[in-house]
Amino acid sequence: MNKITLNFNQSKGIIAPEIYGHFSEHIGGVFYDGLWVGEDSKVENIRGFRKSLVDSFKKIAPPVLRWPGGCFAEIYDWRDGIGPREKRPRRVNWWYYCDGRVESNQVGTHEFMDLCGMVGAKPYIAANMTSVSPLHVRDWIEYCNFPAGLTTLSDERAANGSPDPFNVQYWGIGNENWGGGGQMTPERCADEFIRYTTICRSLGTKDLKFIMCGANAHDLEWTRRLMKQWSSRTFHETPAWGVSVHYYTFALNGKDDVNFDEAGWYEELFKADYMRRIVDDHREIMDEYDPERQLKVVVDEWGNWHIDGTGPSKGYNLFEQQSNIRDAMVAAITLNFFNNRCDVVGMANVAQLCNNLHSLYLAGGENFVETPNYHVFAMFKDHQGGKHVETAVTAPELEKEGFDNLSTLSASSSLKGDTLTITLGNLDLAASKDVKLESIGRTIKGQGTMTILTADDPMTCNTFENPFAVLPTEKSITLHGDDTITLPPHAIVKLSIKLDAE
Ligand code: AHR
Repeated sequence: MNKITLNFNQSKGIIAPEIYGHFSEHIGGVFYDGLWVGEDSKVENIRGFRKSLVDSFKKIAPPVLRWPGGCFAEIYDWRDGIGPREKRPRRVNWWYYCDGRVESNQVGTHEFMDLCGMVGAKPYIAANMTSVSPLHVRDWIEYCNFPAGLTTLSDERAANGSPDPFNVQYWGIGNENWGGGGQMTPERCADEFIRYTTICRSLGTKDLKFIMCGANAHDLEWTRRLMKQWSSRTFHETPAWGVSVHYYTFALNGKDDVNFDEAGWYEELFKADYMRRIVDDHREIMDEYDPERQLKVVVDEWGNWHIDGTGPSKGYNLFEQQSNIRDAMVAAITLNFFNNRCDVVGMANVAQLCNNLHSLYLAGGENFVETPNYHVFAMFKDHQGGKHVETAVTAPELEKEGFDNLSTLSASSSLKGDTLTITLGNLDLAASKDVKLESIGRTIKGQGTMTILTADDPMTCNTFENPFAVLPTEKSITLHGDDTITLPPHAIVKLSIKLDAE
C-alpha cells in the first residue's frame, strides 16, 4: 500500500526560499548566447539579457542566484567586469583548456545585479580565495554595498551607473578549494577563510553571510578537518554563516543523458537520493564542532552531470546536456528532501541555469526552451517560505548495494495560511501508484488543483524543434479527507489545496 501521512503537529520549520536557488557561471554557454545576448542583438532582450528567459525565470520566483562561478570564480578579477563594456579586458577563461573560450567580461557585477533585480533574486557572489588578495575581496564588498558619496569605491560604482548599493548579503569565500580552488588542505582552507573574512571586519559585517568551502560529495574527512580547524579559533572576527557542499550525480554507466534503460533510470534516482547521506552525514560531523547549529548547510552546486554533447549546441557549449523526465525526477526527489531537511539546509543552488548541467533552460540564437527541470521548479515554488509539514511515506523500496533503500515514492508538504502544498514523485518507471492521503492534526479537506508532469516516454525532452513536448497538466480537485489519488508512472505531482476551516 502507498500512503503519505501528514502530521500537522510536527514541522521542521519554515522552508527557506533560498533552498530554491540557482547558479550561473561564466562557463560554456551559460552567459554568452544563453542568458546574455547583448543589447545590440536581434534576439529580444532587456538591457542585454534574453527577454524570453528573464520572463520565464521571474515566474518561478528565484530567491537567489550564485555567480560568477564555480571554478571560474577562482580566477575572476571583479575589476575586469566594471566600467564601459567596450573597454573591458578579454581574458582566458578558467575553462579555456576544455573549450578554448575567452571571457569577454561583457557581463560583470552591474549586469549581474541588473539580472537579479529583474527576476527578484538575491545575489550570491562566489569570491576568489585563490588568486587574489583578501583586500581585493574586501574592496568588492565595499564597492557593492557602501552608500554612494561615502568612499572612492562606492563613488566609482555610482559613476558606473548604480548609485544605489547592491546590498549583497551572501558571499562565498572560495570555491572547491579542495580542487580547482588551489588544491588546499582543509586546514589551509579554514585558515584562508578566516584570513579573508577577518580582513572584511572593517566593513561592519553584521548583514553579511559568509560561506566557507565545504566538501566534495561524501568527503566527510574534509568536513571533519575543516570544522576542527575553523572551530579551533574560539573567536571569529566575522563568523561564518554556512558551509558549502557540492554533489553531482555522475552517470557512470557510459550512457548519454537522453537515452537510458530501466537500470539507468533507477541508478540515477539512487544517486539523487544519496543527497540524504550527503547532508545528514556532513551535518552530523558539523554537530561535533557546531553543536548549536549556527552554521547552515549550503548545497551551492547540485544536479545531474551526464556525458555532455546531446544538448542543442552538440558539444560546443561545455557541459551542456539535454533533460528529460529522469532529470525532472532527480530535481523533485532533491527538492522534496531539502524541504524535509529545512532545519539544516539554508540554501541550495541547482547547477546550472542555462545551457549546462541540469539546466532549466536551453537557448541559442533566437531559440529558447524550458526543460522539464524548469517545470519542477515552477511546480514546487509554493513551498518557498511555507511551514514544513512532517510527511511520512509508506511505499515499496528498492535496494542497491552502497546506497540506502530507495523509496519509490518521494513527498514533502508545506502550509502557507490555509493553502497546503504537497509535492510527490512516483519513482516507479512502469507502474502507476494509488496513494492514500492520511493526516494527523488537521483533515486534508478542501478544493484546489492537481498538477502532473510526466510523458508517455520518460526520455522525452523539450527541444528547439518541439519545445512543448513535456508540459505539466493541471486539473481541479476536491478532497474530502483520507482520499486516494492516482499518480501515473514516472510522474511528478503537485497538490495545491485550500483547506476548509475546521
Ligand atoms: O558546475 C560546473 C563546475 O562543477 C563548477 O565550476 C565547479 O565548481 C564544479 O566542479
